[in-house]
Amino acid sequence: MKLSDIAKSLVVSRKGILAADESVGTMTKRLDAIGIPSTSENRSLWREIMATTFGIESYISGVILFDEILRNPLPNGKMIGKLLQEKNILPGIKVDKGTVKFNSEEETFTLGLDGLTERLEEYKKMGSVFTKWRAVYKIGENLSSTAAITANSIGLAEYALLVQKAGLVPIVEPEILVLKGNHDINKSKEVTEKVLKDVFYWLKEFGVKLDSMLLKPNMVLAGKDSLNQPKAEEIARMTVEVLQVAVPPEVPGIVFLSGGLTPDQATEYLKTMNQSNEKVPWQLSYSFGRALQQEALRVWGGKSENVKAAQDAFLVRAKKVSEARNGK
Ligand code: G3H
Repeated sequence: MKLSDIAKSLVVSRKGILAADESVGTMTKRLDAIGIPSTSENRSLWREIMATTFGIESYISGVILFDEILRNPLPNGKMIGKLLQEKNILPGIKVDKGTVKFNSEEETFTLGLDGLTERLEEYKKMGSVFTKWRAVYKIGENLSSTAAITANSIGLAEYALLVQKAGLVPIVEPEILVLKGNHDINKSKEVTEKVLKDVFYWLKEFGVKLDSMLLKPNMVLAGKDSLNQPKAEEIARMTVEVLQVAVPPEVPGIVFLSGGLTPDQATEYLKTMNQSNEKVPWQLSYSFGRALQQEALRVWGGKSENVKAAQDAFLVRAKKVSEARNGK
């Protein structure tokens, strides 16, 4: 399949992406929070529970995985890449190697370009057809700095180019930590616009094919501690306004991260954006991690007798998010 067709099929109507690419450290945090020991068996079992949920393929077009999960058999003995393919779900892989702090503000850039081409060859053999790379930005009075914005944009562009050269679709994820702090939504809009414009400037400079990638941004939100909390309509309007000035129309889809919003909030904001009468050139879809998994993970609680109930909860949330993606 052509890369542009893979990118389109990931954002086909009624479907979106499940981000199940938590690193060992992040997954340990998620499991610790509900008292489940973070053994490789439990980390793997959780992904197996989601991947074997009956009917999930109606709402999920692709799953982003982490190396440990793609590489090793699941507790049921199957390889997850194969299992997903059998359900017509495209396997993807997170290929960045996390962030490193570089200044006194503790801003970061992302590591992982060394040996990337070799790793991509290996991931392709394991069935991956798309990838993800996350850059993280802080928001504050003088943040994000020009250094953070430029370093991360160039990293994202180099990554995306290498991934397309290797024959996979890159998801470009510039995540501004918009929920942290007391800034209002206007500040979040200003920083998101600046970052996205810079990202696309460098993607174009490096010759990344815009029709063969997806963008995974944050929504435009006020900081959690802001006294001025916007309604869903304002969030949806401001997010779409930023995308309109920063994202070229050739990009087939925008798959939002949930970034610490509750499942209901993430679902509502996505729905409101898709209800807007504003005609936009891209599909507005999802690549949620926590917003898709959080409720089901709690229901599971690490207990085999809760697996069915957890799968039911997972399916219910995936259906709601899928409907939201279509404005319902
Ligand atoms: O990189 C972030 C994840 O892929 C998305 O996770 O929806 O919980 O923010 P999130």
